[in-house]
Amino acid sequence: MAGRFRWGIVGPGNIARKFGAGVQLSETSEVAVVGSRDLGRAEAFCVEFGGRAVGSYEAVLKAEDVDGVYIATPHHLHAELTIAAAQAGKHVLCEKPCALRSEDASSAIKACQDAGVLFCEAYLYRTHPLTAQVMEVVHSGRLGEIRHIAAEFAFGAADDWQNVRTVLEYGGGGLMDVGVYPVSYAMMVFGGEPERVSYLFKKSDAGFDGWATGSMIFEGGGTVSFGCGIHVQMENRVRIFGTQGMLEVSRPWDCTEGFRVKNHCSDDWEEIEGIRADRFGNEVDVFVRSLDHGFVATMTPDDSLAVMRTLDRLRADGGLVFPGDP
Ligand SMILES: NC(=O)c1ccc[n+]([C@@H]2O[C@H](COP(=O)([O-])OP(=O)(O)OC[C@H]3O[C@@H](n4cnc5c(N)ncnc54)[C@H](OP(=O)(O)O)[C@@H]3O)[C@@H](O)[C@H]2O)c1
Repeated sequence: MAGRFRWGIVGPGNIARKFGAGVQLSETSEVAVVGSRDLGRAEAFCVEFGGRAVGSYEAVLKAEDVDGVYIATPHHLHAELTIAAAQAGKHVLCEKPCALRSEDASSAIKACQDAGVLFCEAYLYRTHPLTAQVMEVVHSGRLGEIRHIAAEFAFGAADDWQNVRTVLEYGGGGLMDVGVYPVSYAMMVFGGEPERVSYLFKKSDAGFDGWATGSMIFEGGGTVSFGCGIHVQMENRVRIFGTQGMLEVSRPWDCTEGFRVKNHCSDDWEEIEGIRADRFGNEVDVFVRSLDHGFVATMTPDDSLAVMRTLDRLRADGGLVFPGDP
């Protein structure tokens, strides 16, 4: 791509600020236009990260000086904003989860394909080189045949916490906010979709999953046990167990540490240094450099749809219902 990629940002909140800092560190991109429901919020964002402020999301999508849009609103707006961005001819990097239901994800991805724009769901760990290092060990056979994965992502907000993550109609609760990480990671390692799933959770007064445990089994017998939640702190690791050895990633989600590997007949762990990269700057550069391929190899639209179908099945098993579900 000639010149710097011009990002439009919608929803300049918590994660968009980290994204803005990443764009500044990237080799390929710049912030062009930032849209908020409150013009003052967009202006404050632009003072820090650059770009031109506008007072609506629509103005970002329509802007001629925007090549692609980063969608950083709460979950429930992701699919409709992806469709609107695609129809405006903009490439889309959409925060996870890309929709509340697989049906909506499918419509959003189809809109991107019809418009000939790139779509990628922003799972940072997928584009980070640390994950490629882990997958290299998995594929090397050093662990033998992979049989089991144990993974968690949870954080311990107070029970009376008020946030977009505690609103059921926005897809609030643990699975859609953080459970998506261990689910998608296990699907990356085992490949394909699980044959069976189960999801047990503590239902909050508002009806969302406060904390939970889930299981999946894949064709060939690979099993997964995962934990997630917004009202409990967990260790937030990924552990991969094979017939020969095991691997542990201590910070799999922000990729800020290396990982370690151990053979079953040894007591000693081998510490493997992780490749360092600014996770947002790296994500941005991987996205922009993927424009020629029509997808981001580390998280394709098919990967997103497979994860969304699995989330549907986990929710159905546990009885986690969002208003508007069919
Ligand atoms: N990839 C990651 O590592 C990562 C980390 C955290 C979050 N996320 C994802 O990013 C998304 C945003 O998370 P966040 O923590 O940045 O959220 P946030 O700060 O609470 O909200 C982001 C922005 O969304 C806009 N918004 C639109 N409708 C809203 C509504 N009804 N209520 C509140 N805000 C609304 C607001 O912008 P304006 O009012 O200014 O328009 C707000 O600043 C989530 O889907 C989450 O899953 C990803």
